[in-house]
Amino acid sequence: MALPLVLLVLLAAVTAAREAHGYVAYNTSAGTVAGLLNVHLVPHSHDDVGWLKTVDQYYVGSNNSIQGACVMNTLDSVVDALARDPGRKFVVAEQAFFQRWWVEKSPQIQAIVHKLVDSGQLEFINGGWCMHDEAATHYIDMIDQTTLGHRVIKKQFNKTPRAGWQIDPFGHSAVQAYLLGTELGFDSVHFARIDYQDRAKRKDDKGLEVIWQGSRTFGSSSQIFTNAFPVHYSPPDGFSFEVLNDMTPVQDDPLLFDTNVEQRVNDFVSAAIAQANVTRTNHIMWTMGDDFNYQYAESWFRNMDRLIHYVNKDGRVHALYSTPSIYTDAKHASNESWPLKRDDYFPYADSTNAYWTGYFTSRPTFKGYVRMLSGYYLAARQIEFLVGGSFTSSLEDPLGIAQHHDAVSGTAKQHTTDDYSKRLALGASQVEKGVNTALACLTSSKGTCMPPAVKFSQCQLLNISYCPSTEEQISGGKGLVITAYNPLGWEHSDFIRVPVNDLHLVVKSSDGSFVDSQLVEVDNVTSNLRKLYVKAYLGINTDKPPKYWLVFQASVPPMGWNTYFVSKPKGAGSNRMGYVSSIASPSKDTVEVGPGSLKMTFSSASGQLTRMFNSITGVDLPIQQSFLWYGSNSGDGADSQASGAYIFRPDGSTPTVVSRSVPLKVIRGPLVDEVHQQFSPWIYQVTRLYKDKEHAEVEYTIGPIPVNDGIGKEVITRLTANMVTNHTFYTDSNGRDFLKRVRDYREDWDLQVTQPVAGNYYPGQSRNVCNRWEI
Ligand SMILES: *[C@@H]1O[C@H](CO)[C@@H](O)[C@H](O)[C@H]1NC(C)=O
Ligand SMILES: *[C@@H]1O[C@H](CO)[C@@H](O)[C@H](O)[C@H]1NC(C)=O
Ligand SMILES: *[C@@H]1O[C@H](CO)[C@@H](O)[C@H](O)[C@H]1NC(C)=O
Ligand SMILES: *[C@@H]1O[C@H](CO)[C@@H](O)[C@H](O)[C@H]1NC(C)=O
Ligand SMILES: *[C@@H]1O[C@H](CO)[C@@H](O)[C@H](O)[C@H]1NC(C)=O
Ligand SMILES: *[C@@H]1O[C@H](CO)[C@@H](O)[C@H](O)[C@H]1NC(C)=O
Ligand SMILES: *[C@@H]1O[C@H](CO)[C@@H](O)[C@H](O)[C@H]1NC(C)=O
Repeated sequence: MALPLVLLVLLAAVTAAREAHGYVAYNTSAGTVAGLLNVHLVPHSHDDVGWLKTVDQYYVGSNNSIQGACVMNTLDSVVDALARDPGRKFVVAEQAFFQRWWVEKSPQIQAIVHKLVDSGQLEFINGGWCMHDEAATHYIDMIDQTTLGHRVIKKQFNKTPRAGWQIDPFGHSAVQAYLLGTELGFDSVHFARIDYQDRAKRKDDKGLEVIWQGSRTFGSSSQIFTNAFPVHYSPPDGFSFEVLNDMTPVQDDPLLFDTNVEQRVNDFVSAAIAQANVTRTNHIMWTMGDDFNYQYAESWFRNMDRLIHYVNKDGRVHALYSTPSIYTDAKHASNESWPLKRDDYFPYADSTNAYWTGYFTSRPTFKGYVRMLSGYYLAARQIEFLVGGSFTSSLEDPLGIAQHHDAVSGTAKQHTTDDYSKRLALGASQVEKGVNTALACLTSSKGTCMPPAVKFSQCQLLNISYCPSTEEQISGGKGLVITAYNPLGWEHSDFIRVPVNDLHLVVKSSDGSFVDSQLVEVDNVTSNLRKLYVKAYLGINTDKPPKYWLVFQASVPPMGWNTYFVSKPKGAGSNRMGYVSSIASPSKDTVEVGPGSLKMTFSSASGQLTRMFNSITGVDLPIQQSFLWYGSNSGDGADSQASGAYIFRPDGSTPTVVSRSVPLKVIRGPLVDEVHQQFSPWIYQVTRLYKDKEHAEVEYTIGPIPVNDGIGKEVITRLTANMVTNHTFYTDSNGRDFLKRVRDYREDWDLQVTQPVAGNYYPGQSRNVCNRWEI
């Protein structure tokens, strides 16, 4: 009689399994729960606006042999997955991608997206064109690129992003906290990368989340809730569900092998408890995503649906789909008090020998190009406004993209950097056309634009003395009109230099009076760079570079312009021709230069700078300048970390002086004195002291850096003075405000010095006190 009983039991078991197998309605609609540890799952994909591939290659998914990444796939499949279950959420950051995608969607898809945004399933965070860098960017560019994105989000969805999402940039600036934080309407900012020593201490005292007051001036009137992640912006180990990666899916079908619900729930609970151990309140955030993830979004959501369902059924902790805004609201509602953080999060190291201070100066030419065009864009927008035109938008997208944390930072691949430059150049040439027409209108005495009385052109390559219009116009006997525009809010006087071929020229201002001018020979380094350019890009082998710079002082009203006329003299003008600079031959032990109150003294024997003196302020400073290089650590020792585009890691030896003796050529005149110095075959420097200016202008051309000795070179220039600084110095934050720095010291923790050189470099935009250039 025993047999039938056994059969009955077996039948019952099979029936139970049949019931569990098949459709399961996962309950994903959880909010937060008081009294339990709440695990906020924030689904995201970190999409670099160019890095190993160009922005468009990432968007369309080409060149997947470089990196398997297609942002179109991500956005398409996320929208499908969200539409499938109203409990699911996703956050989108980079508008450079989202807008590429949005414009090509059908009205039907756009309507679905509108619904997802309105219901809060899809939330825009950060909302700028890119996730901008915070070290190499200027604050105006940070504002512009963020405004660009916020403006379209407002227009398309009537939403304003609430959360700053700077998860990947390599350190965080004070301007980000006090200017971009609160002024943009953010109430929180979230990121992964802070110094490893800082992070260890903050984990110990549950200080990863803080109230950040980035400005000592604004104090608590400009503060932001700041969440530094305990590990990185990926999920805890074992909880990534990207489609082609190795993963452990949540398997709850009893008719299939390897069911693991209990195990996965246990893993979830222990990972949550470990994180709760370093976090204040009973809310923790899991960043559910990584670089270019969600290319098949259902893989992630399917697994998260199940985790939320089973974890909440288990009841030890509580899981929910969330966003940084929901998380911040929960933190706020918990009435917790937070540590106060001041200043910034620079420099950033992620291990003993990995100080991410190399990128402060990587690809300096590209950095310079971005800065130059950003200033140009600002001026162009003013001119556009003055004439009521619309011609600057072609620079919006390229400049927005260029602020990305792998763009202006100099850390993208060469082909990607070339792509950024190409976009900028195309945009700039469009804007240039608009500016030319607008200037013709503005300066027209007839008060009418058409037909243009004057044909304007601009010279973007003055840095290599290439400006056909000034050269041809004057030698052709026609006069040249030069219009200087001042985008500043105050009157500004500066020296204008244009390349010319003629020694006999006069400059007049718009009221017809003569303006003092000076002719300075174009040096061979500049001429040779120009020859290389015209040969490579214009195919001209017989270039005749202009012989002189014509220098004169222009004085321009705030947000206004002034016009100057350059011509060959007639009659009375001939005694007002430009002063032809003299070449000084050093006779005494020292050479003093400077036509104004600021003087610099150089040693005749060594060519070295020895002193600076300002007769107005009385400052008299013994000072020396030299170029040196640190050998790059190639990472072949105990620690494989090499010096590179991101990380500065000198090899530990004292830096090598490039040259102790630097013959100088001194050029003198009433407006400017110049000291030309060839420090080595690959370092050329011109120091300029202008009349009426209390600073010296130093321009150096470096490269190609010789590496045929097998040693990478981290080139620096060092100014040595006798100032008593007590290890204290000041650097700016994105060209705004000053932060106090103390060598080998951090205010927030007891610094263990492992990299005495690289660990003391700080970013700087307008008043840099330390610099390292490499090309
Ligand atoms: C889904 O879960 C939430 C919270 O865990 C609960 O409040 C709600 O009642 C559940 N809904 C269903 C249909 O079970
Ligand atoms: C990307 O792919 C295109 C062809 O699809 C190829 O021409 C190009 O060289 C590739 N770019 C890089 C950087 O590999
Ligand atoms: C919690 O943190 C302390 C140190 O703050 C550590 O000793 C302990 O192992 C941690 N516990 C868990 C469960 O991670
Ligand atoms: C926080 O404080 C408010 C007002 O005092 C109170 O209503 C609320 O219950 C508190 N919340 C928590 C989580 O203690
Ligand atoms: C001159 O400026 C242009 C950008 O305006 C830049 O591309 C080029 O590299 C510069 N040339 C030199 C020699 O610095
Ligand atoms: C500059 O080049 C010219 C001709 O190319 C040459 O005569 C002159 O010596 C050069 N000057 C220097 C300082 O090298
Ligand atoms: C030098 O700086 C240290 C710490 O930064 C400070 O304690 C000390 O008082 C300073 N010394 C002087 C003379 O200012």
